[in-house]
Amino acid sequence: MTEPRLYFVKVQVDRSGGYQIGRIGTHSRRILRLCLILLVATMSGCSGIQSALDPAGREAEWLAEIFWVMTAGAVIIWIGVIALALWAVRTRPEAHSLRRTRLLIVGGGAVIPTIVLAILLLYGLRPIPILLAPAPEGSLKVYVTGEQWWWRIRYETPNGTVAVLANEIRLPVGQPVQFQLDSPDVIHSFWIPSLAGKVDMIPGRTTYLSLMPTRTGVFRGACAEYCGASHALMAFAVVVTEAEEFQRWIEQQASPAKSPVEPVAIRGSELFLANGCSACHTIRGTPADGVVGPDLTHVGSRLTIGAATLPTDPAAFHRWIAHTHQVKPDVLMPSFDMLPEEELIALTAYLRRLE
Ligand code: CUA
Repeated sequence: MTEPRLYFVKVQVDRSGGYQIGRIGTHSRRILRLCLILLVATMSGCSGIQSALDPAGREAEWLAEIFWVMTAGAVIIWIGVIALALWAVRTRPEAHSLRRTRLLIVGGGAVIPTIVLAILLLYGLRPIPILLAPAPEGSLKVYVTGEQWWWRIRYETPNGTVAVLANEIRLPVGQPVQFQLDSPDVIHSFWIPSLAGKVDMIPGRTTYLSLMPTRTGVFRGACAEYCGASHALMAFAVVVTEAEEFQRWIEQQASPAKSPVEPVAIRGSELFLANGCSACHTIRGTPADGVVGPDLTHVGSRLTIGAATLPTDPAAFHRWIAHTHQVKPDVLMPSFDMLPEEELIALTAYLRRLE
């Protein structure tokens, strides 16, 4: 039995102006194989923690549906156009009638595109009122400010709990959330591709985004508007959990920092105040009450530091404090590479225990 084989055809113009249809050669087959490999590799990038095509939220599901419907429409139209082009080159010129040619030009060039584009426009605009609608009264409120280059985050829960943190957002699954977004200086764009569309953060204006996560998991949010040297280094973690787990987390985040107990961490807490870190950072429950930089009350409990540029481990804290500008160019925080190793170790021990 012969194996089924997939053949590709090529249309070739010969010297006399005629056309030849034939099988493609080895070289073309290699190119096609490469294209298929690239397509598979590209499609594998459609999943993951930062993909609008792997939705984990109601709004992202609507957007993904629009994308796939539009893509399917484009593919159908592309196949139609290619089929028409093949038919045109394979038909002898004298077989074309003037009436049919005019019909094809007016129909295919004006009437059909107008109808198709009108349908796609109405289809694309349909979910906008739902996407722009605020979350129901009494929903969880999250205030996010885009800073250079990190995210200031403040929670207000319906039962009155207020928590301030940075670069990490946790949400209860299946509950609508209202985001309120702003920026003090430059334009950023707040985007959690897995959960919803993006919304700009504009100085002097407040913008809004409501969404509802539909499954639990850890996702990645990013800034989607060029905002300066470290635009690509301001990301954030988004953790969607069950409601009870979220409640435990938010209450823990709202509480003041635990006092250090180990001598090295106590030394770190003294150095934190002595080196002026408290002029920019707040650690609730201590004299540190600066507001320029991120609130560090529970920094050790976060999944990342430096706005998702480093993990939360001792080596990363050490590197961030000593070589801040190597990790994040142009950041406002100075590098503390002048500190002796013993002081860097003590500061690291203190900060990573702020859980
Ligand atoms: Cu913020 Cu780009």
